[in-house]
Amino acid sequence: MGISLNMRKMAYLKEGTAYQELARKGEGFFQKICEDPEIGFTELPENLIYVDHCDEALNHLPEGIETLYVLGIGGSALGTSMLINAFPDSCRRKVIVVDNVDSDTINRLLNQVNSEKSALNVISKSGSTVEPLSLFSTFFARFEKDLGRSEALRRVVVTTDVEKGVLRQLAAEENLISLSIPGNVGGRFSVLTPVGLFPAMFAGIDVVPLLLGAKREKREGMNRAVSGAVVDYLFHEQSRNIKVLFPYCDRLKTFADWYLQLFAESLGKLKNRRDRIVRSGQTGVVALGVTDQHSQIQLYKEGPGDKSFFFFTVEKQVDVPIPSVFDKYSSFQVLRGKSFAQLMGAEAEGTMQSLERNSLPIFQYELDNVDGETLGALIFMFEMQTAITGYLMNINPFNQPGVEEGKQIARKLLEA
Ligand code: PA5
Repeated sequence: MGISLNMRKMAYLKEGTAYQELARKGEGFFQKICEDPEIGFTELPENLIYVDHCDEALNHLPEGIETLYVLGIGGSALGTSMLINAFPDSCRRKVIVVDNVDSDTINRLLNQVNSEKSALNVISKSGSTVEPLSLFSTFFARFEKDLGRSEALRRVVVTTDVEKGVLRQLAAEENLISLSIPGNVGGRFSVLTPVGLFPAMFAGIDVVPLLLGAKREKREGMNRAVSGAVVDYLFHEQSRNIKVLFPYCDRLKTFADWYLQLFAESLGKLKNRRDRIVRSGQTGVVALGVTDQHSQIQLYKEGPGDKSFFFFTVEKQVDVPIPSVFDKYSSFQVLRGKSFAQLMGAEAEGTMQSLERNSLPIFQYELDNVDGETLGALIFMFEMQTAITGYLMNINPFNQPGVEEGKQIARKLLEA
């Protein structure tokens, strides 16, 4: 496992007094967050009990299940998508994440479903979010029609708060397989609970390295999380309010989606802890390298200077050589003897240097490879970095009043 944060031309920032003072504060917040019993995500890397619980749940499913439908949204879906997409070669069984309530998609999925060989994992921390509840009702009704009630019930796994909410009650009354999300872990911080672990284990992903990587990052990665938080804080102060995540790796595309939600919901706040209107937060954009070099880079290089750029490059990639079959044509000659990994590396470096020429801030996360430990470390690092940034901004990174309000209005509209 290896991650290094290369601050490139922005390394000078570290010399500044503002940076050093903020870093000192950030280190204090790191400890405080780790020690606060109300903040649970920091305990997850050391906690293997959820792996056992997920194992047990897997053993309770009927034989022959080939597909798991994950019915959840936001923090109850993005972590699963991140894990499934990061490790496609480990997936022996299919996990389909259904988060949206688009009837066209739902209809298509229902037309394809094989109830006999499928199971449902409804995930909702609160147990009251209408999207997973509506999807659960719909898929369950279909299973019940196809298989009868008791066989349908055997194919349901409920993941919800350890004690509260309607889904917890339903799981108890219907005697369903159920998994717990600890009360002190919020949705977007919950990927290392059964929220992300169960679907990943169903697929065949070994989740222990994820936890080991997260644990190591907690022990050894304070500087990285603090540096990231200070940099985000400083850019936010300078109204450089668009944060572009640029993974040069298809398998990390949904990791970037997950991270974007993490900082968007955690740091986008109307008021600070003193109840003053601050309207904090950075707008995230995911750009996939190299694909989005051909759609977004023109804007980034020459458009408004309101962005900071975070590149994720992977050192060890499968080496697929580019065959030299059309060498007599000049445009092909540059590729002679090269591999796709070399091409990807050159394009990432070229893009970074080109942006730097316009004095744009680039940060590069250099990853040795994309394995379980590295992803686990990234998960912990960015959860911690986001929390520390929130503390530096003096806002609460663990609530989401804006989301809650929208949910309530939608409910009222449905009731009316
Ligand atoms: O991070 C969060 O808290 C949110 O994104 C929630 O995960 C999302 O709104 C879904 O909520 P719940 O898991 O309660 O259904």
